[in-house]
Amino acid sequence: MKGVILAGGSGSRLAPCTKVTNKHLLPVYDKPMIYYPIHTLVSAGIKEILIVTGGNSAGDFLKLLGNGKKFGLKEIHYTYQEGSGGIADALSLAEDFADEEKITVILGDNIFQTNISKYIRSFEQQDKGAKIFLKAVPDPTRFGIAEIKNKEIVKLTEKPKQPISNLAVSGLYMYDAQVFKFIKQLTPSQRGELEITDVNKFYLKQKTLTYETLTGFWSDAGKFDSLFRSSTFVQQHYQDFDFFN
Ligand code: DAU
Repeated sequence: MKGVILAGGSGSRLAPCTKVTNKHLLPVYDKPMIYYPIHTLVSAGIKEILIVTGGNSAGDFLKLLGNGKKFGLKEIHYTYQEGSGGIADALSLAEDFADEEKITVILGDNIFQTNISKYIRSFEQQDKGAKIFLKAVPDPTRFGIAEIKNKEIVKLTEKPKQPISNLAVSGLYMYDAQVFKFIKQLTPSQRGELEITDVNKFYLKQKTLTYETLTGFWSDAGKFDSLFRSSTFVQQHYQDFDFFN
């Protein structure tokens, strides 16, 4: 399967650092943030990656990552998102790259401890649809949240003010080729973005959305608190993050 890393957006929650560089080039402990999603994909056997970037210092991705060989990639592709129209807007740029095949998508600021190989294998077996990954969190108003009944997802809400559960939808998604058709039907949310949660709702309505509950550490690193928490976790569990050195 091919992989897509979404590393656009303005990174405004990490200003002023992101005024002069791209959020995904900032360090999480001893490595640039973007190394973590690359490793999550490469360690699951993905050899072909598209990086969607945007905002400041986009050219520095090329300097840092080159042709991807040193990360074990066969091919690395780059594209540029104009503005920050949302996660689904960034993903729309991957349509030609995906070429009608299933894809694994990961947010450039998400740090996963778990090896995702088994999830990719299971999604390859899934007839059609999408798969998302849930994790209980203490601060559910910050995330997309899933409500589960009888082991099935019944509702998805983006950053609910009064969360119906504490199960956050992490920034790892697996989609079939329908995803691009769904994105074309989206309209911007109140925050002016094409929301990935709205994409997932199409699959929920179609009853083709499956999920797994994540084991191991997961965090975004998009705010100073979560960046600090991620760096500390990586330092303290370095045996699981000792890659690309
Ligand atoms: O971290 C998981 C959460 O990520 C999910 O639970 C939410 O459902 C999802 O909406 C998202 O929430 P955030 O508000 O935290 O996303 P953020 O705007 O921080 O963007 C996360 C990454 O997505 C960012 O590191 C790069 C990429 N992105 C984002 C935007 C807005 C883009 O590539 N382009 C964009 O325009």
